[in-house]
Amino acid sequence: MKQGVFITGTDTGVGKTFVTCMLLRSLVNKGIKAAGMKPVETGCKPSGFALVPADGTAIKAAAKMQDNINLIVPYMFEKPLSPYAASMIEGRIVEPAGILDSYAALAKAYDFMVVEGAGGLMVPVCSGTNAGINRSAYYYSDLAGDLELPLLIVARAGLGTINHTMLTVRCALEEGLRVVGVVLNSTSGSAYDISEDTNLQVLRNICPVPVITRLSYAEPENDETRAAVQEIISAVLSFGS
Ligand SMILES: Nc1ncnc2c1ncn2[C@@H]1O[C@H](COP(=O)(O)OP(=O)(O)O)[C@@H](O)[C@H]1O
Ligand SMILES: [Mg+2]
Repeated sequence: MKQGVFITGTDTGVGKTFVTCMLLRSLVNKGIKAAGMKPVETGCKPSGFALVPADGTAIKAAAKMQDNINLIVPYMFEKPLSPYAASMIEGRIVEPAGILDSYAALAKAYDFMVVEGAGGLMVPVCSGTNAGINRSAYYYSDLAGDLELPLLIVARAGLGTINHTMLTVRCALEEGLRVVGVVLNSTSGSAYDISEDTNLQVLRNICPVPVITRLSYAEPENDETRAAVQEIISAVLSFGS
């Protein structure tokens, strides 16, 4: 089983790529041979005959990888939809076996894998038929299980996050997935949300998995966010050992 982590979120736009890239930069700075992967990226921008995956490109740069982008993002789609829907519309089939092959190739060359999902755990990657299973869909929760990676759950810091976080954690545990923990992330520096002052404590009281830290809004990163990333790194590296 490869050392690594699967970055999932309670929703899209919660900061999965942000956390993935911060983690990769820190791991690489520590001298750890870490690789990132975004198995399916939708909403890619066309450039000539090719598609440019924004998340995959950011991940590749953060980990300073020299690998071909098609290995880092084996499936790219133009429409900003779930992989299942984008593949239906654009007519290209997603097969979990293709993802697992790319993952295996990277995992052979690297010591630590950081894989970013899309949306949340119950986003369908493809139909059950494409996955060779007798179910309507193959979900990101299935992919995390097949990759044998524990989850890091990125959640919003503000109002609504208690419900979304608890639903995601419950789903993960019911699926038998291991969970490193939850990171509450602020994706906006503007609107003050009073719940951000209490969510960390409430979730630490009620959530059955560790709520590691709260990551403030900061671009570029500052001392506070760097310290929070160190807490995440410690949790990820010590998980299961
Ligand atoms: N802690 C943060 N500080 C500053 N900007 C952030 C932070 N977290 C996320 N963002 C920004 O918010 C937007 C959405 O985050 P992103 O990582 O792309 O979400 P996701 O991958 O879950 O869809 C991006 O523009 C990202 O750079
Ligand atoms: Mg992303």
